[in-house]
This record gives sequence, structure tokens and C-alpha cells, in this order.
Amino acid sequence: MLARRLAADAAGIAEAARLLRAGDLVAFGTETVYGLGADATNADAVARIFAAKGRPHFNPLICHYPTAEAAFADVVPNPAARTLAAACWPGPLTLVLPRRPDSAVALLTGAGLDSLAVRVPAHATARALLSAVGRPVAAPSANRSGHVSPTSAADVAAELGDRIAAILDSGPCTVGVESTVLDLCGPPALLRPGGVTAETLAALLGQLGRGGGAIRAPGMLESHYAPEATLRLNAASVACNEAVLAFGPVLPGAATYIQLSASGDTTEAAANLFAGLRALDALVRQRGLSGIAAMPIPETGLGAAINDRLRRAAAPRPPTASPADAG
Ligand code: TXA
Ligand code: MG
Repeated sequence: MLARRLAADAAGIAEAARLLRAGDLVAFGTETVYGLGADATNADAVARIFAAKGRPHFNPLICHYPTAEAAFADVVPNPAARTLAAACWPGPLTLVLPRRPDSAVALLTGAGLDSLAVRVPAHATARALLSAVGRPVAAPSANRSGHVSPTSAADVAAELGDRIAAILDSGPCTVGVESTVLDLCGPPALLRPGGVTAETLAALLGQLGRGGGAIRAPGMLESHYAPEATLRLNAASVACNEAVLAFGPVLPGAATYIQLSASGDTTEAAANLFAGLRALDALVRQRGLSGIAAMPIPETGLGAAINDRLRRAAAPRPPTASPADAG
């Protein structure tokens, strides 16, 4: 059965909420990327998220809420969490906090950890959906594990269209990279750069640590966000049979390219990143090119999140069958 496409109007939102409450999988747009949603309190529904994505069960999911108050009913906030919630929610920030022992969220949602990742997305349709569901909604990015995250309903249909009940189509995602994941169980530690910049977090909390040498976010394995084509980073020149992921003035000699931001704006580039990788992948296939050369992008603003995704997309792929990563 192919996923139904629901419009982002009152009837579509009500139907998406009904399906989620009934235990079905529904993809929905947020400001970052499309999420693959399930009722986070329903272990069977959550198990079907892992199955649909081919995601390893050790990789925990983010729970989504319409308000900070609802989120803090499932986790124990500390002063830093309250500061960030007031400044950044609703928005592209995920906080990892100690899970409340009486939380109704299924243990599988958090992969059995005693912490839980919570987020209040900014997208109006997503918030209306979350309010209508009235329960926490577990949602990883709506791609097959290891693939590029989807930023449109059409991308979701291509990734998971035959595995889920419905897609709530709220148009293209405006931020374009996933939320920033911040661990607040101890001293604040950045687990994944994302839509809220490190500069913003530092202004609110002071300088941050990185999540240590070990993989602290279980999903942050090396290879991820991977297009089919091979990806070469920080390209200063282009070979005749390469496609180019451009940022600013295009490299001389690039016959096939996708522009992330002609003016060199990292916010615009983030919004175009995943759709650009998908489009280049298709061009490489159609034109029989050797791979993708990505031009350098500065580490400032959303550039840190873009470079993180590009490094993972370029990382050596694991042998087939075992999922490349996890998100
Ligand atoms: O923007 C986003 O965050 C999107 C939209 C749909 O909200 N969601 C998303 O989910 O990107 P996902 O599953 O693709 O990435 C979630 C990341 C993973 O790296 C996971 O390991 C980490 O968050 N994570 C989740 N729960 C955690 C926990 N309790 N402790 C540490 N890391 C956690
Ligand atoms: Mg993901």
C-alpha cells in the first residue's frame, strides 16, 4: 500500500492525528526535515519506525511536543534546559535530559536509556498535529537509515512511500538540516550541530563541550546522509566528469552543478543542502559521472551543521546489509 498524501489543512491534520493515535506511522514536515512519526507511548508503533527505516534499535528517537510544558512532563529540566527552552523553543533544538521514571513514553523510544531527547518544533502544521495527537510523537528523520534526510513530501515518498500509512504534506522544509542535539544530563555537550547554531548556544550558556571521544549520540556513527554517488570535500578544482555542489561562485569548468547559495549564505545553503544532494545524485546517475565534488563551506552559522553532514556523507561506507548509520 502506498502512503496517502494528506494536505496540511484542518482535515489533513485531524486525519494524521487519528492515524497516529491508532498506532500508524505518519510522516510530517517540520522546519528542519520531515519526521517519521509514531505515538511514542505505543511500543509496537515505535518498533515499526525502526523496521520501516532499517534503523538499529540502539539508536534512540526524539520525542516531539507542542509546548515546553508538555516536553518537561516526560523529562526533568534543569536551569540550562529552562533557559534554552525559553530562548529557542519552538525551534530546531533537541535537549537530552533525564527521563522521568513515571513517563508513559515507551522504553524502546529512548532505546532503553535513562535519558530522553525532547524537542518542540516551530513548524505551524507540526505543532497543530502534535496538539491534536495529545501524546508525545517519536520521530526520526523520514529516510531509510543512512540515507539523505528528506526535506519535501516527495522525498519522503521516494524513501518510505511503500512502508507508512500517510504523509502530511506541509511543503519544503525551511531550515533544511536537522535540529541541534544538546546533552544536558551533565555539563552541556553538543552531540549534533544543527539548526540552532553553536554561536547562539554559546551566547546563552557559555562555551560548550563536544560529546567526548566516544559516540555519545548513538546515532552519530561516521557514515550517514549518504548519497549513492561518492562525495569529495573541499574541492578547489573540478575534474571533467564530476558534478559540483557549489557554494558561491562556481568552480571554473563545472558542467554539472547545483548551487547551494550563490551569495555564500550558510542559512540559504542549509535549506538547499539535502535536496541538492538528491538532485546531484540523480544527475550523476543520468549522465554517468564519476561523483560529486563539494566546494568548501565556512564553519560559521549553519555552516557547522552543513559540514558535519557533508563529512558523514563522504565517510567510507560500511559493507552492504549493515545499516550505514542510524538516523
Ligand atoms: O530535526 C530533527 O531533529 C529531526 C526532526 C524530524 O525532528 N529528527 C531527527 O531525528 O533528526 P534522528 O533520529 O534522525 O536523529 C536524532 C539524533 C540521533 O543521532 C540520536 O542518536 C540522537 O538524536 N538521540 C536521540 N535520543 C538520544 C538520547 N537519549 N541520548 C543521546 N542522543 C540521542
Ligand atoms: Mg536522521
